Amino acid sequence: MDELVDAAVKAREQAYAPYSNFKVGAAVRGQSGRIYTGCNIENSSYSLTNCAERTAIFKAISEGETKLVALAAVADTAEPVSPCGACRQVMAEFNIDHIVLANIKGRQLTVSIAELLPFSFTQGHFYKSKKDGDNREYRKL
Ligand code: THU
Repeated sequence: MDELVDAAVKAREQAYAPYSNFKVGAAVRGQSGRIYTGCNIENSSYSLTNCAERTAIFKAISEGETKLVALAAVADTAEPVSPCGACRQVMAEFNIDHIVLANIKGRQLTVSIAELLPFSFTQGHFYKSKKDGDNREYRKL
């Protein structure tokens, strides 16, 4: 897991954060074992900013990973960084259950997606009854 945090620390250096000056790095491990990194990418139209976590997840999925096993995120915060709601929802979509939140001083907290986003909206909610089921690969409800 240290490898993932180290990758997130390194990715943080690529952050494009001229508006907030708050740099965040993330790294996600796919089932293949490969690590994908991400940083936050801000925009003068603020709402278009992409967080580090989503950058890393989107990179992994777009490179062909179908299952993501772990994620690490790091920022220069007093406490381990706390991912925003949008990123939690994206983590829930891919059922990333092993999530390491960290700061650059080495403080770490490991949480599950259920802890980060309880009662999340998932693809299972599209079904009218449980027996209709959900057998897609990404998410086991
Ligand atoms: N940010 C992330 O990239 N990840 C987080 O977990 C928290 C917030 C970014 C978004 C924005 O570029 C900056 O941090 C300040 O909100």
